[in-house]
Amino acid sequence: MMPSTIYKLCVTLVVCTLGVTAGPTASITQSLACWLVEDIPATETKPRSIQQTRVLVQFMDAAGLVQNSPVTLDPETLLFHVFDPSGKLSPDFTSCEITHHLPQEVSVSWARSLTEEKISPLALAKTWYTLAAHNGLDGRAVSLVLGPLGDKKDHLSGSLAVYTSSIVQHAHLGKPLSLPCGMWKGHQQRFSVEWRHRALGDGNLLYAYDGWKDKIEEHAQNCHLNFSALHSEGDASLLIENVAIALQGTLLCTVYVPYLRAQQEIQLVVTAKPQVTLLPAPLFARPGEELTLTCDVSHFHPLEISVDFLVQLPGESHPTLLTGKSLSAHTHNHDGTFSLAAYQRIAVTDSLHGARYFCRVSHVSAAKGILISQTLKVAGVSGPSLEDIMYLFLVALLLYGTLSYLRRKAVSLFGNPEELQIQKNKSE
Ligand SMILES: *[C@@H]1O[C@H](CO)[C@@H](O)[C@H](O)[C@H]1NC(C)=O
Repeated sequence: MMPSTIYKLCVTLVVCTLGVTAGPTASITQSLACWLVEDIPATETKPRSIQQTRVLVQFMDAAGLVQNSPVTLDPETLLFHVFDPSGKLSPDFTSCEITHHLPQEVSVSWARSLTEEKISPLALAKTWYTLAAHNGLDGRAVSLVLGPLGDKKDHLSGSLAVYTSSIVQHAHLGKPLSLPCGMWKGHQQRFSVEWRHRALGDGNLLYAYDGWKDKIEEHAQNCHLNFSALHSEGDASLLIENVAIALQGTLLCTVYVPYLRAQQEIQLVVTAKPQVTLLPAPLFARPGEELTLTCDVSHFHPLEISVDFLVQLPGESHPTLLTGKSLSAHTHNHDGTFSLAAYQRIAVTDSLHGARYFCRVSHVSAAKGILISQTLKVAGVSGPSLEDIMYLFLVALLLYGTLSYLRRKAVSLFGNPEELQIQKNKSE
């Protein structure tokens, strides 16, 4: 073999190896590990059960081409080839569950117009699924209805997607809020949007809109949709003017298209920042006195909170945590917020003069926490302050007044002792 041929062969080999390795690594992540969750009906010998099967979802493009090289699966795992025209499914989702979807008419009044023609496509008779996936890190989630794509059983295509940018939302009491929910429905013109609230098993309708008839069927006070954003971009976010504590719980954004529906759950946590006061204020005490610091924490939500006392002694650069605090039971205010108090006993000594006492509150409503403080003044340690002088002056004035009053009273009762003496001497 000629050296030049060997050289050419080497180059070709390197290029090929690079090509082969670069191809699959670039798209090897274009798949998602899911669980197929199926309800297995009871038989004569077995009770009803839930069956879970591993599924590898391989992303496919519109032409039906799988975007990566064939994978070897263990025999227990199913392989689904999925085309997602919504583009909302992504390989970085951390959890994914697939369930069977039963296409059906919906009886709610705001979705009835969608199926009024009673013409259902043949494809509805095939197997349909709902793929629900979310990213545990950033909260993104999508619910995708999958229908048949071609004749192959394991080839599926998205027909409807409902998604959110975050499945957990924090909102401040009394502030406006937009609960993010978007939909993708392809060229389908008929759709309805429904928002529901569910708290402690109790549910109520917040908004119902028939997008085909352009008719608001139901809407709670304070709740709106942006119709131009809904019709142009599929933005079905619920706009709330003024968030109340009662809205805390699960909010369900549901989109109906003929015979199909998809839903997204959003957990709403309503927060209210506590007002914090540290008493007594100002903080004066006598040496030897036992003092109770009270930290009043009021009108906060949710209930989870931590309250601590700290002290920064004179000359120290950092406060240190005090032990032995106690907490009152919480009270429930009319607006749904909570209040409580924390107590800390301190035995006052001269050396505590100038010590700074802190109340530190950690709560979800205040990212940096809340810290307030009072400086302790121990009587008799430093020279009298202006307040002390005024206090002493008042006491002296009161004492003088009382004494002179008593003296006058004594004179009127018993007469002036000196005068009495003079009278005595005269009479002798
Ligand atoms: C409604 O959505 C449109 C388009 O996204 C946007 O330009 C507009 O500001 C929105 N209106 C309100 C009141 O949010």
